[in-house]
Amino acid sequence: MRLFVAVPLPPDAQEAVSDVFRGFRELGWPVRWVPEADLHLTLKFFGEVAPTRLETIVEMLGFCVDGMGPLDMTVTGGGVFPHRSHPRVIRLDLDGPPELELLQDRIERGGVRLGFPPEGRLFHPHITLGRVREGHRLPEDALDRLDAVPSMAPFLATRVVLFESELTRSGPRYQPRAEFPLA
Ligand code: 2AM
Repeated sequence: MRLFVAVPLPPDAQEAVSDVFRGFRELGWPVRWVPEADLHLTLKFFGEVAPTRLETIVEMLGFCVDGMGPLDMTVTGGGVFPHRSHPRVIRLDLDGPPELELLQDRIERGGVRLGFPPEGRLFHPHITLGRVREGHRLPEDALDRLDAVPSMAPFLATRVVLFESELTRSGPRYQPRAEFPLA
């Protein structure tokens, strides 16, 4: 099973993001957009994992989330990965409290203890909106439009979810496998 840990966007944030998101989708860019209900902030991608390891991963995540309260987060703008000269991923940037980095670091270290390779790059909190289709490029004005995304109202993230990502012909399907309230 393919697993990743994420902070799903709560409904109020989803609503705030959806105006911007729909605006982009209407532009006809050659992008595979993430379904609105699946928008999330990834904390750790575990990749393909033997189902027998699920319990250990859930236990590790429980320790990581233990004692963490809700996270106050803000969408601060738009951008691309990996680079402006070679945009492949359309993203929204997120600003969070120090606890968000602490949580991500705990999960990263917990993963390493269980034998998962470390990410090897700095944590850049973001929401992926879509991925540029193979062999296509974004139009000239795309970066300007992403630069113009305004900062949005803050929202409270109240849960961390371990998702299974099932790859299907119509794209990945995310199934929650365990949920950890930030309470
Ligand atoms: P992203 O938003 O930064 O692209 C589920 O696939 C989630 O896991 C995605 O949101 C993606 O985060 C993240 N992820 C990280 N590394 C990945 C990889 N090598 N393959 C697929 N997804 C990955």
